[in-house]
Amino acid sequence: MIGRDGDVSELARVLGNGVHRILAGPRRTGKTSVGRAALSRLRRRRLYVVELDLFRIPNRAELAEAIVVQTIANRPVVRQAVARARRAGRAALAGAALTASTRLKTELGDEVELAFKPGIADRDPDRYLAFGLELLQRVAAADDRQLVLFIDEFQEIAGDRAPYGDPDALTKQMRSVLQDSNRVTCLFAGSVEHLMRDLFTPRQRAFYQFGGFHALGPIDVADWRVGLVYRFAEDGCTVTPDALARLIELGEGHPRATMLVAQQTHDAAIADDTLIVDSGLVAVGLASAMAADRVSHELVTERIRSLGRHTLVVARRVAQGQRAYPGLEAKTATRAVNALRDAGLIEQHGRGDWQVTDPLLRRYLTEL
Ligand SMILES: Nc1ncnc2c1ncn2[C@@H]1O[C@H](COP(=O)(O)OP(=O)(O)OP(=O)(O)O)[C@@H](O)[C@H]1O
Ligand SMILES: [Mg+2]
Repeated sequence: MIGRDGDVSELARVLGNGVHRILAGPRRTGKTSVGRAALSRLRRRRLYVVELDLFRIPNRAELAEAIVVQTIANRPVVRQAVARARRAGRAALAGAALTASTRLKTELGDEVELAFKPGIADRDPDRYLAFGLELLQRVAAADDRQLVLFIDEFQEIAGDRAPYGDPDALTKQMRSVLQDSNRVTCLFAGSVEHLMRDLFTPRQRAFYQFGGFHALGPIDVADWRVGLVYRFAEDGCTVTPDALARLIELGEGHPRATMLVAQQTHDAAIADDTLIVDSGLVAVGLASAMAADRVSHELVTERIRSLGRHTLVVARRVAQGQRAYPGLEAKTATRAVNALRDAGLIEQHGRGDWQVTDPLLRRYLTEL
């Protein structure tokens, strides 16, 4: 990772001290990367970790399964047995897996079997989820460890489709279990800042005052310089000062955009059979990055259109640095701006000053 050492250290320190944290911010700005980096530091300090990415967990049963599997996988011997059993599918357990599962059932309860036999949580998702949530503390206490629970894309819990069941009931259940789990510390991350704030700040919400927000700091220009020079040097490439300045300028501090343009520039250097990266190659890199993102930009545009009748107009105005409102009813324009913000596409920098977060998307919308 380039830069962000301060964010990673701070998060690791706070979580290591048992204080919950919420990492909220626009899309693709590095939340997951920072969360993971903090977790791997904590793992090195022998804390247990459980990492759930809700984008990859379709329903309540699989949520239960993921929690149980990851919790017990903190024990190395169990991790191997579980992995082997899961690879073998739902056939009868044998050998080390059978031994491990029998022992764990005695220690933790029959429900733990679901870790070894994918799919059985479907039979009774409520029971297995309740078991999983309580298992975090039980395993941590049994092994005399602290455990950090990282839930990425946490806003999915409150998503329209309610993938894990009634959001209110689930968040209340989680809160009440976690409150009594003194060995469990949570890191929740999400790309929909507004939704994340809605889950954690209103007084009537289950997670009210559960943990403080951590806002990612910008990546310093000096860090970008060092980091990019280092990345190119790994492949024997030298970047000219002009090219380096241009890369950083084009990326506008946005991690994903900067890295994509840098990577495409590197590909262009390889194609040109040169080890010197100059601004000419950065221009090629930018064009390739835009081409690489074309399909995704088209999809985002479709999505913007689906958010409301005027959202695309407003998004293009914001992209072009114009005011969102002229010619639209104030209410309509506000609604469009809010929808774009909730989708994690635009951010506010001062009153009435909105910006498209991803500079490549902004370029695409400007040129549309
Ligand atoms: N500090 C960094 N240095 C280099 N690359 C980074 C850095 N932070 C993020 N990236 C890259 O940018 C991309 C987006 O990062 P990441 O997935 O962490 O962001 P996110 O905020 O979690 O995104 P999303 O909103 O999609 O969940 C990834 O490809 C990642 O490798
Ligand atoms: Mg992420």
